[in-house]
Amino acid sequence: MRATVNGITVDYEFGGPKKAPWVTLIHGFPFNRAMWKSQVDTLKSTFRVLTYDLRGLGKSTLGKAPQPLEAYVDDLFALMDRLKISKTALCGLSMGGYIALRAIEREPARVSALALCDTRPDADSNEAKLKRAAGIKTLRAKGVPAFCRGMIPNLMLDQGKPAKALLKIMQSNKADGMANALVAMQGRSDCTAVLDRIRVPVLVICGMEDKLTPLPLAAAMAASVPGSSRVSIPNAGHVSNLDNPGDFNRALSGFLKGALC
Ligand code: MLT
Repeated sequence: MRATVNGITVDYEFGGPKKAPWVTLIHGFPFNRAMWKSQVDTLKSTFRVLTYDLRGLGKSTLGKAPQPLEAYVDDLFALMDRLKISKTALCGLSMGGYIALRAIEREPARVSALALCDTRPDADSNEAKLKRAAGIKTLRAKGVPAFCRGMIPNLMLDQGKPAKALLKIMQSNKADGMANALVAMQGRSDCTAVLDRIRVPVLVICGMEDKLTPLPLAAAMAASVPGSSRVSIPNAGHVSNLDNPGDFNRALSGFLKGALC
């Protein structure tokens, strides 16, 4: 399905029982909503599940660039408005987690629960900012396929079939959309201060072998959110929902049922 919001076309899909609580899954970088297939299949008998492509990624258009992370949060709220979703649980992986955290900081009343997966609350360090700049250079010089191939070893523990499927998703993106996302993440605000103000159920999920947002970060984030719970996913790297969908889905659906049903 397609919606025009904030001057862009957003590609989205939803399903599940009409009166069920909403759950919105926000993908990471540089993926698209297809990364959530197994989670949608698991959740859609109990919840109304929304997935969408972030601007400039998947089938959603970029609009006028550059656009900061705030625009990605604007898009989420605009899509919710369009679909008449007053409140939803948010589940964000990595960049999706940055968006989810900023969304609850901006509009806490619109978020019913929060699952923060393989993500972090703080802004980019100087080192991370310079890495983004180098990444944009590589992306422009070598192109999307080579850039994505270079990322895969840090994303997935299982470098076989699941990594190949993820690479296909990644390589279907356009350079401009990816570059914009890098600049947006580079300039995002620090959301650490919101953590102890969160008053909805929170689950922090992290792959035990996550090299990009490792377990100590997840532990520190969970410790800052009053009453939150935390699950470490065995045999999983950064994209823990694809490395170990069984454990990931059990953790996520158990949490959402406890929080929303
Ligand atoms: C992601 O998976 O979304 C990225 O690792 C986020 C980032 O580059 O900070």
